Amino acid sequence: MKKMNNVISSLCFKSVNFAYEESKNIFAESISVEFQIGSINVVTGENGCGKSTLLNLPLGIWDNYSGSIYMDKEEVRAFDKEHLRNLVSYAFQMPAIVKDTILNNIAWGKTIEIERIARLVEAINFRDDIESKPQSFHTIIDREALSQGQLQKMEIARVLYTDSPIMIFDEPTSNLDVKSVHALIRLLKEIKHQHLIIIISHDDRIVQEADYKLRL
Ligand SMILES: Nc1ncnc2c1ncn2[C@@H]1O[C@H](COP(=O)(O)OP(=O)(O)OP(=O)(O)O)[C@@H](O)[C@H]1O
Ligand SMILES: [Mg+2]
Repeated sequence: MKKMNNVISSLCFKSVNFAYEESKNIFAESISVEFQIGSINVVTGENGCGKSTLLNLPLGIWDNYSGSIYMDKEEVRAFDKEHLRNLVSYAFQMPAIVKDTILNNIAWGKTIEIERIARLVEAINFRDDIESKPQSFHTIIDREALSQGQLQKMEIARVLYTDSPIMIFDEPTSNLDVKSVHALIRLLKEIKHQHLIIIISHDDRIVQEADYKLRL
């Protein structure tokens, strides 16, 4: 078994299809695709075509898909769920924010390394937003206390802080301003050699940066 924070070079879907309870298969033809480290992998496709569903499958929440998913040739279904949680992080379209400090929302139960968090939020143009709050990183927030763009940057920061070998970003730029989009692109280009990065996006600014594109 791989240890936490090891590099994963390939995430491979082989003839994968999935049906939510009592509905038919999401994909007319099952999906076979391999994403690799070192690339900005971008997944596009119309609303409802199954992008989020497909990219959620490596999280191991559902096992009842057809076909197989492999991380470096090891089948994901065989992985211990706890272990899997350390391998894949997912920035959700609907950010997961709880009523707690900004720091705790970014660290999400992991040990707080304040300098690493400070560097990371700086890199995604989020530091000024945080420092404008009354207690800076220690301000207690909830969904209502942040703007849509700030919520999105919080979700991105949470995923980046995990340092997981695989990071999946679901529509990460839909509420970001131009400066923040450019900052995120710059950062992803830097980390794509150490982490396998997949971005679901309709945003032309992201799509044009893709080294590899999958249209569903
Ligand atoms: N929990 C669920 N239960 C039942 N059906 C669902 C569930 N989540 C999604 N679906 C359905 O599965 C299909 C694929 O949804 P999914 O969210 O994967 O699409 P998407 O490509 O991510 O769309 P978008 O671009 O709007 O985010 C849709 O028809 C949707 O209605
Ligand atoms: Mg989606």
